[in-house]
Formats: sequence, structure tokens, C-alpha cells
Amino acid sequence: MRIKQLLLIVAMTSATFAMAQNNDVDQRVEDLLSQMTLEEKIGQMNQLSGGYQYTEMIKAGQVGSVLNIVDPVEINAIQRAAVEQSRLGIPLLVSRDVIHGFRTIFPIPIGLAATFDPALVEQGARVAAIEATASGVRWTFSPMLDVARDPRWGRVAEGSGEDPYLDVQMGVAMVKGYQGDNYADPTSMAACIKHFVGYGAAEGGRDYNTTMISERALRNTYFPAFKACVDAGALTLMTSFNDVDGIPSTGNNWLLRDILREEWGFDGMVVTDWNSSGEMIAHGFAEDLKDATKISINAGVDMDMMSWGYIQHVKALVEEGKISMDTIDNAVRNILKLKFRLGLFENPYVDESLARKVAYAPEHLAAAKQTAIESAILLQNNNSTLPLTKGSTILVTGPMADAPYDQLGTWAFDGEEQYTVTPLKALGAHFNVINAPTLTYSRDKSTASFKAAQKAAKKADAIVVFVGEEAILSGEAHSLSDINLQGAQSELIAAMKATGKPVVVVVIAGRPLTIERDMQNCDAMLYSFHPGTMGGEALADLIAGVAVPSGKTPMTFLRDAGQAPFYYNHPMTGRPNNGTETLLYDIPLKAGQTSLGCTSYYLDTGYGPHLPFGYGLSYTTFEYSNVKIDKAVYGAEDTIVIEYDLTNSGKYDATEVAQIYVRDLVGSVVRPVKELKGFERITLKAGETKHCRYELNVSELAYWNRDMEYVVEPGKFQLWVAGDSASGTALDFEVR
Ligand code: BGC
Repeated sequence: MRIKQLLLIVAMTSATFAMAQNNDVDQRVEDLLSQMTLEEKIGQMNQLSGGYQYTEMIKAGQVGSVLNIVDPVEINAIQRAAVEQSRLGIPLLVSRDVIHGFRTIFPIPIGLAATFDPALVEQGARVAAIEATASGVRWTFSPMLDVARDPRWGRVAEGSGEDPYLDVQMGVAMVKGYQGDNYADPTSMAACIKHFVGYGAAEGGRDYNTTMISERALRNTYFPAFKACVDAGALTLMTSFNDVDGIPSTGNNWLLRDILREEWGFDGMVVTDWNSSGEMIAHGFAEDLKDATKISINAGVDMDMMSWGYIQHVKALVEEGKISMDTIDNAVRNILKLKFRLGLFENPYVDESLARKVAYAPEHLAAAKQTAIESAILLQNNNSTLPLTKGSTILVTGPMADAPYDQLGTWAFDGEEQYTVTPLKALGAHFNVINAPTLTYSRDKSTASFKAAQKAAKKADAIVVFVGEEAILSGEAHSLSDINLQGAQSELIAAMKATGKPVVVVVIAGRPLTIERDMQNCDAMLYSFHPGTMGGEALADLIAGVAVPSGKTPMTFLRDAGQAPFYYNHPMTGRPNNGTETLLYDIPLKAGQTSLGCTSYYLDTGYGPHLPFGYGLSYTTFEYSNVKIDKAVYGAEDTIVIEYDLTNSGKYDATEVAQIYVRDLVGSVVRPVKELKGFERITLKAGETKHCRYELNVSELAYWNRDMEYVVEPGKFQLWVAGDSASGTALDFEVR
């Protein structure tokens, strides 16, 4: 009782303190706002890329934020211009795309998602914040929350994949990691949740393309991570390049005002994507930059990134009565509030010697290595080829074996390749390595060196081939229609297979590639999304069995790019898979036309994908048994208690990601085939069985229904506990 009272008092005191802090910030915002001219207000709304070149504009109060500078000396210099030489001394917000690490580069975000380990991802974001803020960067354009279901889209590299639930867990972890416990702490970096919204649904996976998303799909699939991150205190949000139902996001009042501010109560700051205001002209949605500026501000965008429209046109638009002073004041309030919250007025400068001291700190490298270990996915391991025997002789080849720049992946501007540990470097600690350089980069088509490599392989016990994608083949503006291995990489794998030696293929890529045919030419395959600075050590440890794989696929792996978009949680169809497929070459000549008995599949690739969502093997085996739920019927307020035994039935201590899926059998609208509702990482010793328990609130079965209400509809459900989205036995229950 006394402890409870004490906790209550502590809770009340911190709530009161937070409220007092907010009041204090609000008061300071109002005081400052009341002293500002219209020109100074417009200046705060203007974000430019660069530093020194804008010194005069900064002194004149024409710049509120800069992006893309990371040298602490330059940052301090322009900050001095703002704080000491502009009329009101308002500090600048210095921003950067710190997407998966600053100096110490972590796996790309799709690789982070493959860990299914939000606590580790939060730790990585904290490391990124510590390193970036030491340079003076206090705002990052991350996390990217775009649900993406088409691996042709280059930006799948930057997000958490196809599942809204995983997206929520990863997004919230990153926001917490970047922002820390106290916004004003000098190591706190404001997060920017992006791109609001639907950017990941770009038609055909072509970057910047249009999207077709209904309001219900927005609410059920694309909004949840944004809403969860708003609730977790994300300080800023970025609009997206695409249109949603014909309205570009940067000009979308419904999204930015009705949903974000009114419905969700977001009290942070909204910024455009790079020139996304100006791009409304090319969209045919604005006549010119002035028109685009009017539309963006009235839609609720506070800050303009690099269209130059705000600084050029807002004054005239206000004078012409096309934008109200209230609208301007509200935008500036949001910007000033962020600067006060971050403590920039108290601490505008950075210790210029700090950045180099904290970069690549041993604990940062250790966190990056652990993350790279957990993010690698074992896709195949015939005859327990992996791990390879320590001390044995291995032939190492392939374009990604020693590619220090490319293994960092996309958006790794500040990671320095000389700090990268490549697999070739790291494998020497465990094996006698024969280095056989073949293809020099992933698009290389020259097979001239293959014979020599085959000859050299005679002396090896096994071959490890590192293939994949250079960093530049994924990320923004790098979509592909063919997502097979590029260049002569498949030929290289086949040539190595022809030696008769055991072949391990390690894929280091920015997206889930179509690697089914390559898997047939190797004994084991380990899949690593660009793993970052410590990727080499992580992969070497996995290959040697010092670490055991535990990653799971955050996206469905396709047989062929023609299957895209393809995701496990698709809506139920009227002709679901019934286990019979008549494939292309089984169709008799002049077969009569019929659709009877046919289901939704391709004649050439069949019904299923290559590998399902949530899939990943281990060096050990896991068995699920005694899976049960505590009741047959639940009320809306109840909790479903799920219990199961998980056994590590193999020879290695290892971690399994146990996943919980649900299907709502009948809805007022068509429901997904399955939905991930929970997961846990469970570590077991070889031979150990653990009794596991997971609680799922019935309220988590809610969705936006036919009447666009967020409700749990009574009826029948099924639930699975399994190691991937395609396994397990359904348990039935009902909600009344
Ligand atoms: C990207 C954003 C990024 C911004 C700033 C844009 O091209 O779409 O994700 O944050 O540039 O670099």
C-alpha cells in the first residue's frame, strides 16, 4: 500500500513537472513569437541544405534549419551566426539523414526489422543519437515507417517491411532510442517519422509513383506506425512525395490537419520532404511555386525543405490574404517549441572535440555487431553445412566478400569505409582462408576468373560465396524490375557448385531478392541485408558457429518479381488456395477454357511465394507443443492467455522468434488471411524446453470496419503460434 502511494506521488510529480515544463515552453514560445516580424517568422519556416554558404541569410533571420552538414566546426560557426548575430538569436535546428547509424553503421532498417528485437533496435538508435549529436546534429529524418510490399521498390531497404505490427514495434523503438528520456539532453536527437503517408505503396514499386489506397487501408495498414510513434512522443513528421487518392501528401489538409492534429493530437512539427512542396507543380496540383507554397502551408506544413517557396512567396501570400497570420503563427509555434524542447536556446553549441571521441566507441561497435548477428537470416542449411568447421580451409569469393563501402548500404553518408570490417577480413580469425577474387562488383559480368577460382577450390574444404547488391542498387530512386542477382553472380554460384565442394552462399543486399534458383546451387544460404560496419565480424561468427542465426524475413521472398506485390497478410479472396495448382506445362494442348476449381495463383510461379514472412532457420531445431489458449469464448475486455512449450531439439544454444498470428474469420469487410499480433525472442539451451506464456488483449483485434469505426467485431477467430507465418496449427476461439 505504502509503495503504491509512493509510486502514485512519484508519477504525479513527474506528470506535474512535465506539465510545468510544457507550460514553460509554451510561455517562452509566445514571448518570442510576440517579438518576431513576419520576415523572421518566415525565416524560421525555411530549411536549406548546407552551412557556411548561408551565413548571411542566417544572420538576417532567414533560415530556421539546415540539413546535410556534420562538421562540428561548421555547425558551431553557423550556429554562432544565428545565436549571436541575428536580431533575436534563435538557434538553428541542424538535421541529417541518420538512418541506421551515424559513424558506426548498423544494418539497414529492413535488416533491423529482421532481428525482431525492438530493444536492440532502440539501443542502436541511441548509439546513432550519441554519435550524431556529438557533431551537433539534433534532428534525424528517421524512422521511415512506410509499409512496403513490393521488393522492386528500392526504399524497402529503409523500412521495416510488409507488416504493420512489426512496423509499429520497430518505429517506436527507434523514436525512443533517438530521443532518449529527456528531449533537452544534449544527446537527444529529434526523430522524424516519415513519409506521411502511403509512399511504400508506390505503384509497381516505381519510386515517387502514385498510390491507390483506400481510407480503410490507410487506417488499418499505413497509419498504425505513425499513430504509435506520435503516441510515443515523436517530435517531427515528414510528408511524402506521393499523392493519396489524387492529393499530394504535402498539400493534404485531411492528412495533416484532420488526422494528424485533430484525431491524433500531434503537437510536434511537420516538414516537407525535399522539395515536395515544389513538386506539386509537376504533379499538376499547383500552378507555380507560389501556389504550391500556399497549398502546403494551408494544408498544415510548418517547414519547407528546399523548395525555397516559403522564403520567396509567403510574405506576398499573407499580404494578399491567401494565408492567414494565424496559420503562420501556428507553424512558427511548432518550430520554436521544438527548439525549446531540445534545449537549443540553453545549449546551442557542441564541443568540437567530442565527435571524434565518441565515433566508433567499442560499445557502439559491439552493439552494431550484435545487431548484424541477429539480423542475418538462415534460409537454407542442407546436411547441416553451416556452421563450417573452425580451423578448416575455406575458399572465399564473390563481389561482396570484401566490399567495405557497399556493405554499409544505402543512407550511410557518414559511415567511413575504412572502419568497415568485411567478411574477408574477419573470416581469418576462424579459418584458413583462400582468397579467390572473381567478380569485382555485383553487376560485373566477367566470368574470366571463374576457372582459376574453381582450381583454387580444390585445396578448400568448403566454399563461401558472397553475392548480393552494391549499396547503390537499393534506396531512394533505385527501383528495379528484375530482382534476381545482377551480373554474373548466379553463374559464379553455379561454377562453385560444379566443383563438388560444399557451397555456402551469403547474400548481402538491400532488398529481398528472388534467389530461389540460386538456392538450388548451394548447400546453405545466409541472407544479410546490408549489415553495416561490423557486418564482416558478425557473418564470420555465424559461419563459424560462434553465433547462431536467429533473424526472420520481414518481407515475403518472391519466386519472381512478377509476383509483386505479394505479402502474407493480404485480404482473403473468394478463391483461396485449395492445394491444387495446374501449372503452365501441365495444361493439355487445346484444353477447353474453364475457371471452375481455379484459385488465385500464377500459372508459372504457382500459389505460394518462395519464402513466407517471418521465416528463418537456425543451426538447431525448435519444436512447438501444447499450444493452447485459456478459453473458447472471450469478451471484448478480456485477455487471451496463450501458452505453449518451446523445445530446442538440436545441438546448439539458440534463439527462436515465436510469432503469434490471428485471423478474423468473418468481418463486415474482407479481412486479412493472417495478421501478426505478437512475437517474442526466446533463448534456449540445447535440449531445453521452456513453458511460454503470452497475453494478447482482445482489444488488439480491433480494426477499422465497414462503418469506419475502430472496433473488435464479435465472431470467430483463429490463432497460430509458430516460427513463421506459414506454419502452426490453428486454434479456434470466439469473441462475443
Ligand atoms: C528523401 C527523404 C530524406 C530527404 C532529406 C528525400 O529525398 O525522400 O527521406 O529525408 O531527402 O535528405
